[in-house]
Amino acid sequence: MAIPGGAFFIFDLFRVNASSMTMPFQRWFYLLASVVTVQSTKAQAVDVVRGPYLQVVTPTSITIRWRTSQPTESRVQFGTFATRLNQEVSDLKAVTDHEVILTNLKPATRYYYAFGSSKTTMNVDPEQHFQTSPKPGSTDPIRIWALGDFGNSSATQLGCRDAIVNATKDRRPDVWLWLGDNAYSNGLEDEFQQHVFGVYQDGFFRNMPFWATPGNHDYGGQIESQAIPYFQICSMPRQGEAGGVPSGSESYYSFDYGNVHFVSLDSYGKMDGGQRIYDTTGRQVDWLKRDLAANKQPWTIVFFHHPPYTKGSHDSDTEELLVNIRQNLLPVLERYNVDLVLGGHSHVYERTYPIVGHYGLADTFDPKHIVVASNSDQPNEYRVNGKKQGIIYIVAGSGGQLGGQESGWPLKAAAYTNNTEGGSMLIDVKDNRLEARWVCTDGVVRDRFSIVKEKQGIR
Ligand SMILES: [Fe+2]
Repeated sequence: MAIPGGAFFIFDLFRVNASSMTMPFQRWFYLLASVVTVQSTKAQAVDVVRGPYLQVVTPTSITIRWRTSQPTESRVQFGTFATRLNQEVSDLKAVTDHEVILTNLKPATRYYYAFGSSKTTMNVDPEQHFQTSPKPGSTDPIRIWALGDFGNSSATQLGCRDAIVNATKDRRPDVWLWLGDNAYSNGLEDEFQQHVFGVYQDGFFRNMPFWATPGNHDYGGQIESQAIPYFQICSMPRQGEAGGVPSGSESYYSFDYGNVHFVSLDSYGKMDGGQRIYDTTGRQVDWLKRDLAANKQPWTIVFFHHPPYTKGSHDSDTEELLVNIRQNLLPVLERYNVDLVLGGHSHVYERTYPIVGHYGLADTFDPKHIVVASNSDQPNEYRVNGKKQGIIYIVAGSGGQLGGQESGWPLKAAAYTNNTEGGSMLIDVKDNRLEARWVCTDGVVRDRFSIVKEKQGIR
């Protein structure tokens, strides 16, 4: 979107020359230089300083966002062929934070797009594309990438990113989940810019929609305020436009992608005068119950930042928030056939067995809490055959940060733990089979498990 900004060079030339002149001439040159500067602002280059990035993808719509250095109008051209962008949406309001919603799209279809404004050159690149969601209930394969505690520009963050690029060469993820503490250390604008957009822009943002949940670092200490960059940067499906019951909130929401129902909860913020995620009669959990009760998809993945079971860099026995989540929220999740709960916060990887009914301290975990409807002869393959099913809880908080262990490590309820390697989750869902693997920075898969639904579990 380059507009020549040559006037700046003239100004610089004047400034250098003026320094060696006598006073009256110096003043004259500065005066002339100011005029040139005022004129130059009109012709100043408009740079794309963030994005494009993709939000709230549904079977028929998507949101495309980007930021420019100067206010401009917004225009997106798109089509199903990279060389034929024959549809267009524009917004004449001059803004720096652009947000364009494309509608009336076809499900499960790849579209290419260009973005810019009506006055400047459009940004065209064959890597600018997106895939609309499949129709709800579709059994087409879905690939999910999930990681938490990542935005710190560390070697671990870059290693996780590169390992996923390598591991997904055959098929890129459709659904990218942020598990909270997305930008260190305080979720500031420039931290998101440097540690998140700066790390994932080219390979991910322009062609992979993400769905976020907030962590404590994203709140930056403002626990009762939504006036934080996280909520400005992320677009949420508040009206149920991507499936699920409308939440009416940016803090928590749900969406369907094929035959998977996803729920993002806010495990940190205080709402409605102080209610938190463990207040089971509060607005968030009231909505959660209604959303899960209405869910028609066979798979349910719930993600929120603070884990109910961990002995990594946090301790779910001693930290009140984690204890309260375990005691109060888990019975709700167990009631509605939730399959996976993904979180972060602890900078480690921990994956429990499918469990139910364990709300006490870590040491009170007993094999009786493991619920496997039917054992397979495959290790780490769990079969659901119509009886009560357990929930597998995963801490995937080593997507950038790494390490730590509290007294009692490794977690007794865990089938696998690791606090020395950074990594992130790839989850493939195809019809009644879910396969998950934890891909480390060196590309090695150190944990994998699968769930096969021979029948839906009971509530
Ligand atoms: Fe955290």
